[in-house]
Amino acid sequence: MRKQIAAANWKMNLTLQQGEALLDAILSRPHSLKENQQAVFAVPFPYLAMAQQKLAGKANVFVAAQNCYSKKSGAYTGEVSVEMLQSLGIQYVVLGHSERREYFNESNQLLADKVTICLAYQLLPIFCCGEPLAIREANTQNAYVAKQLEESLYHLSAEQLQKVVIAYEPIWAIGTGKTASSGQAQEMHAFIRRQLAEKYGAAIADTISILYGGSVKAANAVEILGQPDVDGGLVGGASLIADEFVAIINALK
Ligand code: PGA
Repeated sequence: MRKQIAAANWKMNLTLQQGEALLDAILSRPHSLKENQQAVFAVPFPYLAMAQQKLAGKANVFVAAQNCYSKKSGAYTGEVSVEMLQSLGIQYVVLGHSERREYFNESNQLLADKVTICLAYQLLPIFCCGEPLAIREANTQNAYVAKQLEESLYHLSAEQLQKVVIAYEPIWAIGTGKTASSGQAQEMHAFIRRQLAEKYGAAIADTISILYGGSVKAANAVEILGQPDVDGGLVGGASLIADEFVAIINALK
C-alpha cells in the first residue's frame, strides 16, 4: 500500500516556544500511525533542530523543511542548502508551494533543479502543484498541472520519481476555508496518477503518494483522505491546532 501522509505546513507561524508546545501537545495525544502511515512536520528553518530532537526515536514521524536552495553551497546569503538539511537529519523538503511560486517567483525550471539536488542528498521532495482560480474557472486545470509535473519532474528516472511525494493544492482552496470537493480532489489525483502512468508506467505511478492540500481540517479529513487516489494531506491552518492535526493523522487510511 502507498504511504499515507499527514503533513503539517506551519508556514511562517509560531515562535519557538509555541512550536515546542504544539509538538508536545500533538505527541501527548493518542494517535495511531500504522506501518504505511506517516506524520510529517514542515517547520520554519530555525526550528528544524528543535523538531528533530523532539521527534527523535518516534516511529513514522518526520521533520520537513519548507524550502531549500538549488545550489550546493557558496555565496548565497540567506539561503539554506540541502547539505545543511541533510546534516540535521531532515527527511523531507516541501518544494514549489504556491506561496513560493507566487511571492518568490519560483519557476518550474528552478523547482526541477531543487528536486534534483534534494534527491542527490537523499532528501525526499514533497512537490506541490495546483492551479489558480482563473484556471479552474476556465476548466484548464488538467493541462496546467500536467505542465507543472512535466517541467519539474519528468527529467527524473523512475527510481528517482518514486522518492517524490506529490501534493496537489488548488490555490483557490489554500487558506480560504474553501476546499475542493472530495470529487474534485479525487478527479485531479486520478488525473495526476494517469499522467505519471503515461510517462513512467502504471506500476510506478501506483506507488507515488499524492497528498491533497487546501483547507483540510478535522471536519473534512475523513471524506477527503478517504478518496482512493488521495494519500494524505498537506495541512496549513489546521496543523497549528493540536486536536485538529491529531484528528487529521487519525483520518489517514
Ligand atoms: P491551508 O494550507 O490548510 O491553510 O489551506 C495548506 C497549504 O498551503 O499547504
